[in-house]
Amino acid sequence: MVMKNSSEKLSEWIKEAKSIVALTGAGISTGSGIPDFRSASGIYSNEQNVNVFDLDAFHRDPSIFYNFAREFYPQVRDAQPNAAHRALAAIPQCTVVTQNVDDYHQRAGSDPVYTVHGNHIHSTCQSCGREILTEELFPIIREGEVPHCVCGGVYKPNITFFGEMLPEYDWTESVRAMSEADLVLVLGTSLVVHPAASLPGYRPWNSKLVIINQEPTPLDCEAQLVIHDDLCDIMERLTIDS
Ligand code: OAD
Repeated sequence: MVMKNSSEKLSEWIKEAKSIVALTGAGISTGSGIPDFRSASGIYSNEQNVNVFDLDAFHRDPSIFYNFAREFYPQVRDAQPNAAHRALAAIPQCTVVTQNVDDYHQRAGSDPVYTVHGNHIHSTCQSCGREILTEELFPIIREGEVPHCVCGGVYKPNITFFGEMLPEYDWTESVRAMSEADLVLVLGTSLVVHPAASLPGYRPWNSKLVIINQEPTPLDCEAQLVIHDDLCDIMERLTIDS
C-alpha cells in the first residue's frame, strides 16, 4: 500500500510502538555520499568491483579487494552520518540491524546496532588471527600494497564476504529483536542478499512492516506502508518528539 502523508503516518506508528527494529542497507548511507551497490551508479555498476567482497576471489588475489579499498576506506572514514542515521538514533525504542560496514549508525548514537555483515573498522590476519585497527593499515593500502601481518599472513577486513558465515552474536540478537518487534522499518536495501534479507520474516504476525526504498523490493507486497522515495527526506520529516 503506498500512502500520502507517509511521514505523518510513520511518525504516529513510531510513537505507538514499544519495540522497533530498523533493518538498514547501503541506501541509508547514499545521503552521506557513499554509493550503494546495485543502483545504476552503485559500486557493482563498475565491472571491476563485482568480486570485491567474494571470499574465494580474496584468497586467490587480495589485491582485487585492496584496489577497491584504497578509495573506499578514506571515503567512508571522511563522510559523516546523515539525517536518516540521526533520526533513527533519536528513536529510543529502536534497535538497528545494519548490513552496512560503515559505522555511521554508531557514530550517530544508535544503540544497540547489530552489524550482520561485519565492519571495516578491524582487520584480522588470515594466518595467525591477529586483529588490528584497519586504519593502521591505511598507509600500506594507500601505496597500492596488500597489507601483511608480521607473521606473513594477509589481513582481511572483518567484513562478511560472500562465502562466509554471518557474525553469530549479531545474527542471533537480530533475530531475537526482530521476533519481539511491533514495528519493523526496512530502509535503503534491495533485500536481495540472504540471509540478511530474510530477517523481516522473523517479525511477529501482528507487527507492522514499513519499507522505504527508492526502488521496489521483494517484500513490498507484505508491507503495511511502502514509500518509494528518498529516505533522508522522509526520516527528516518525522515528528516523534511529543
Ligand atoms: P543495494 O545496493 O543492493 O540496495 C540499496 C537500495 O537502496 C537500492 O534498492 C536503492 O534503490 C536504495 N536507495 C539508495 N539510495 C536511497 C535513498 N537515498 N533513499 C531510499 N532508497 C535508496 O544495497 P544492500 O541492500 O545494502 O555486502 O546490499 C546488501 C549487501 O550486498 C551489502 O551489505 C553488501 C553487498 O554485497 C557486503 O558488504 C558484504
